[in-house]
Amino acid sequence: MNVLSLPEMEHKITIAVDGFASCGKSTLAKGVAQALNYVYIDTGAMYRAVTLYCIEQEVDIENAEAIEQALNALDIRFKTIAGKNTTFLNGRNVEENIRKMQVNNRVSEVAAVSAVRCTLVRQQQEMGREKGVVLDGRDIGTVVFPDAELKLFMTASIEVRTQRRLLELQAKGQTVSSEEIAQNLQHRDHIDSTRADSPLKQAEDAIVIDNSHLNQEEQLAMCLVLAKLRGAS
Ligand code: CDP
Repeated sequence: MNVLSLPEMEHKITIAVDGFASCGKSTLAKGVAQALNYVYIDTGAMYRAVTLYCIEQEVDIENAEAIEQALNALDIRFKTIAGKNTTFLNGRNVEENIRKMQVNNRVSEVAAVSAVRCTLVRQQQEMGREKGVVLDGRDIGTVVFPDAELKLFMTASIEVRTQRRLLELQAKGQTVSSEEIAQNLQHRDHIDSTRADSPLKQAEDAIVIDNSHLNQEEQLAMCLVLAKLRGAS
């Protein structure tokens, strides 16, 4: 008789969450990963870490070759600290610094550099090699894991996105106006959607979620149903 043991029956899938800036991708991706006991990979944090390095080391962000050189000196890792996904750059906890406006203001320029994308995409593919992962970003369903079993494309109104980011930054003690945030989100969306290398776009087989009027519990419940339908366990 062929009896399957529990681990063999498990079916791990890859879940790609793409979409515009500050529309709740990471909240959803973290929730789904936690519920399914999957690994969460915050690809935006990786682009943010490269940007922080360039700012701190005064690498000229207008100079793609200088950024490419800098990549050799970078080691980006994630660790879970007090239950939270935390980004480390060359051994230093940079989780707080990568979310500051100075990084928001330059990250899309850095993320448009092909050498940066090439290096980070390779690392992301390696991290997700064994499935059982939820990744959020801009190019996950189109470039990083085009064969992902479940692809979500998230969007929300600019007012809702601005308000969410404002509250997030205020909670961290940062002083910033909603005008500045709205401008930054729209500016990043524009650069991210129009860059030559792997622009932000909806994968043909992605499911669109406009969460302007959905709360966190509702969107999580919806995605867990979708994940199960795609065979996740
Ligand atoms: O949290 P938020 O939506 O504001 O941004 P993020 O996901 O942390 O991503 C920050 C920036 O990194 C984006 O605006 C993109 O320029 C870049 N990014 C990218 O190009 N590709 C990814 N897979 C993830 C992020």
